[in-house]
Amino acid sequence: MRSSGGLRLPRAAYPLGLSVCLLLYVAYIKWHWASGAQALLSITEVASGGRGGQRTRIPPAMAPLSHQAFYGIMFDAGSTGTRVHIFHFSQRPGETPTLKRETFKALEPGLSAYADDIEKSTLGIQELLDVAKQDIPFNFWKATPLVLKATAGLRLLPGEKAQKLLQKVKEVFKASPFLVRDDCVSIMNGTDEGVSAWITVNFLTGRLENPGSRNVGMLDLGGGSTQISFLPRSEDTLQAAPPGHLTALQMFNRTYRLYAHSYLGLGLMSARLAILGGVEGQPAPDGKELVSPCLPPSFRGEWEHAEIAYRIAGQDTGSLHELCANRVSSVLHNQVHRTEEVKEVEFYAFSYYYDLAADVGLIDMKKGGSLLVGDFELAAQYVCRTAEVRPLSSPFACMDLTYISLLLQELGFPRSKVLQLTRKIHNIETSWALGATFHYIESLGRQKSLAS
Ligand SMILES: *[C@@H]1O[C@H](CO)[C@@H](O)[C@H](O)[C@H]1NC(C)=O
Ligand SMILES: *[C@@H]1O[C@H](CO)[C@@H](O)[C@H](O)[C@H]1NC(C)=O
Repeated sequence: MRSSGGLRLPRAAYPLGLSVCLLLYVAYIKWHWASGAQALLSITEVASGGRGGQRTRIPPAMAPLSHQAFYGIMFDAGSTGTRVHIFHFSQRPGETPTLKRETFKALEPGLSAYADDIEKSTLGIQELLDVAKQDIPFNFWKATPLVLKATAGLRLLPGEKAQKLLQKVKEVFKASPFLVRDDCVSIMNGTDEGVSAWITVNFLTGRLENPGSRNVGMLDLGGGSTQISFLPRSEDTLQAAPPGHLTALQMFNRTYRLYAHSYLGLGLMSARLAILGGVEGQPAPDGKELVSPCLPPSFRGEWEHAEIAYRIAGQDTGSLHELCANRVSSVLHNQVHRTEEVKEVEFYAFSYYYDLAADVGLIDMKKGGSLLVGDFELAAQYVCRTAEVRPLSSPFACMDLTYISLLLQELGFPRSKVLQLTRKIHNIETSWALGATFHYIESLGRQKSLAS
């Protein structure tokens, strides 16, 4: 998922999963060292007793019942910029934590722009760290995990350059007053990203709170890859899943077996190139023009993708929509695993799914909304037909809508299926960052309880 800029101070608070104790344990064990608060010791002892069988030395009745705060800092190092998310949580002993607010700041360009001047990358990181210092009370610094996860931009750099950049960031982090572990800096793959986004959406919709509640699925369409994640209930789905499509996730004292997959090369921009007949990372042979039935017949222009410029043009034969659909179908042929169960799961869709639906007016640009999978097909038919007679706002509109419509159908979504398209849930941006923060805090808790 892509995030956008601006400082956000959402007011609403949300309940979360079962394992209150675990989060308490993680966040407070450090804090009680810092503050010397005796009462908090009892919480951490009770918590580790629940997991690891330690005996409680101080009666839980002595635990304070007031809300306790804890925090998490997540850096999102994307291809176009670096963003910091500072999450403020609140939790009462024995109850589910809530997200009080999030502070957000973005800087451009992305880390990958500094591949050849690594020292310079630290200035931006430092600036964002200063935002975190201003935002989090200083007595919480030592207990607040600081993490950076990199996405597409760094994944594309040659391994050595990416590692050097990340090493530099780690040095800056280690010199900060926050809780910094050896695994504080890493590059996420598409599956990690999809799983973290799944956690975010299910947390924000309150689905992780109650083990019996139905979880929601997550669809994401980026430039290079596309992701699908949901929690299967049917044994058939688990049995039929291809290798690598199932992920075990431990979250809030529960283990989830998620169906989560990222299709590299099926993001919208990579798909455009494939539909045009181009090859990723290669210029067209002899600068040849790429001609496609998915572009308006009269269109001729240049399109840049992954720093390569392609000459592209429409072709004036037959019905645009039909020819384009045939072309897109051949690109998608045997590329995607179809799951029957997606018909029965409520799905949220993000990124280009949202943008394209908003561009053609299927949903409100600001508020989002819901639509039927078949609406993408109707919009594609209309837009492609219009393209035959007059120029479109984007020469890619017919291609993109046809692609989205057929991608969803290949994934197993019937035309009558309702999708929710949204950027925010309860006023919180639905990025992978929140889910990845929970996931990280959870893993700290596991390490702690193993060590104790
Ligand atoms: C985790 O769940 C198990 C049972 O599913 C329970 O016995 C245990 O107390 C829970 N631990 C925490 C920390 O909530
Ligand atoms: C993605 O990375 C995780 C570790 O962060 C790993 O467990 C998983 O196997 C990777 N998945 C793919 C498809 O590479």
